[in-house]
Amino acid sequence: MFFSTPQGWFSHTSMDPPSLVVDSETGAWDCVLLDPLSEESFISNLALRYKRDHIYTYIGNVLVSVNPYRPLNIYSAELARAYRTRGPFQLPPHIFAVAGSAYRWLRDRSEDQCIIVSGESGSGKTHAAAMVVYFIASATPGAGPGLESIRTKLRHIGPLLEAFGNAQTLKNDNSSRFGKYLDIEFDYKGDPLGAHITNCRLVLQVGANSDCDPNIFGSELSIDYLKRKGDGSELAFSRVTHQAPGERNFHIFYQLLVGADIQLLKLLKLQRNTENYSFLKCSLHNHLASPFTPATSPHLEDKLCFQRTRKSLESVGFSSEEILDVFKVVSSVLKLGNVVFIPSNNIDGTEGCTVSNDYELYEVCDLLSMDCTILQGAITSRSLFIDDPHEECGSTLIVTELSASEATQSRNSLCRALQ
Ligand SMILES: Nc1ncnc2c1ncn2[C@@H]1O[C@H](COP(=O)(O)OP(=O)(O)OP(=O)(O)O)[C@@H](O)[C@H]1O
Ligand SMILES: [Mg+2]
Repeated sequence: MFFSTPQGWFSHTSMDPPSLVVDSETGAWDCVLLDPLSEESFISNLALRYKRDHIYTYIGNVLVSVNPYRPLNIYSAELARAYRTRGPFQLPPHIFAVAGSAYRWLRDRSEDQCIIVSGESGSGKTHAAAMVVYFIASATPGAGPGLESIRTKLRHIGPLLEAFGNAQTLKNDNSSRFGKYLDIEFDYKGDPLGAHITNCRLVLQVGANSDCDPNIFGSELSIDYLKRKGDGSELAFSRVTHQAPGERNFHIFYQLLVGADIQLLKLLKLQRNTENYSFLKCSLHNHLASPFTPATSPHLEDKLCFQRTRKSLESVGFSSEEILDVFKVVSSVLKLGNVVFIPSNNIDGTEGCTVSNDYELYEVCDLLSMDCTILQGAITSRSLFIDDPHEECGSTLIVTELSASEATQSRNSLCRALQ
């Protein structure tokens, strides 16, 4: 069985396995059977079932899921295989039934399938999407080293994206701050060939043949949890430089500082203490007390999650050099956040600024392998090409020095772009 901590999935086996008999279900397992069917009867049916740990209920072919806020023994490879071979209404309602149904339509009729997961923050969308991927990775029939490697990659997609794109908010310890669109492609036998994950800034391809075209090889299944967070993607990135009271920055920053060994920290020119980084200072360091958070220390959890993020990067196919490069970029964001600008007067009387701790800039340039004058110029000045109608040769370059607050904004934009 799998259960989630605020930042991922761990196996667990101590509870009784679920019953696979529809008749043993409490209440109405399909709400269309309710009589009378009203909002009140619908909610009380969900509550009745929830008390017996039946968190899934159908409304026709739509599945309603109630977050149990604790691990339940209802996810296993064996169960996934049972749902793959049986029709949706032959077994109790389950996310595996939805995945199994989409899988059979795709395999038997070669029709592309899309699963839409919807709900408020903390309702369990990421969990549901992860269970669909778990289903594909566990219940597809083929065997062989190539297929196993794809399955391993599929299992590691979630934890990897969560490390870089999820953060603790007031509503959810592991809130996804970006919509994601996951396409899994299959061959004609129904085995996964690979996957593409897309969000507004990132495209990740996983598989033996990352150029695979679904029209040639078979069909594809999309797990669509693209969503509007209400705050838009630009604001989601603003979390890098500022967090609301009681919330945290993206998990990866804490994971790296707490989980990296001394040698890696030295290589990345980082110090272990999160208090030393201004982008992490104002955030909440202790996890919120929530019913679904296991009682572990947040530091221990970040440390464990760092091992898993690293393992996921390896499993998905990043080389050791590429992994180090990824961490160098993460480190650069943290260090750039500590760069301080002091107001100064330009010769023409306008306000300019200087960097008070330029050693931070030198170290960032070292990490990013770039020329320091270019970086310093990019964040402390603005360059404009102005078309000159009297000049034949075209445009003139105007360089304006930025004030301390403008330079801070420019630095923050760069950090958000890097993340
Ligand atoms: N079926 C489930 N079994 C056990 N725990 C669950 C289940 N569904 C959700 N949870 C728990 O609830 C928490 C919130 O779920 P999840 O992160 O999936 O919400 P979400 O809908 O993706 O929220 P957000 O929109 O903020 O990203 C998770 O950390 C997970 O531990
Ligand atoms: Mg989520």
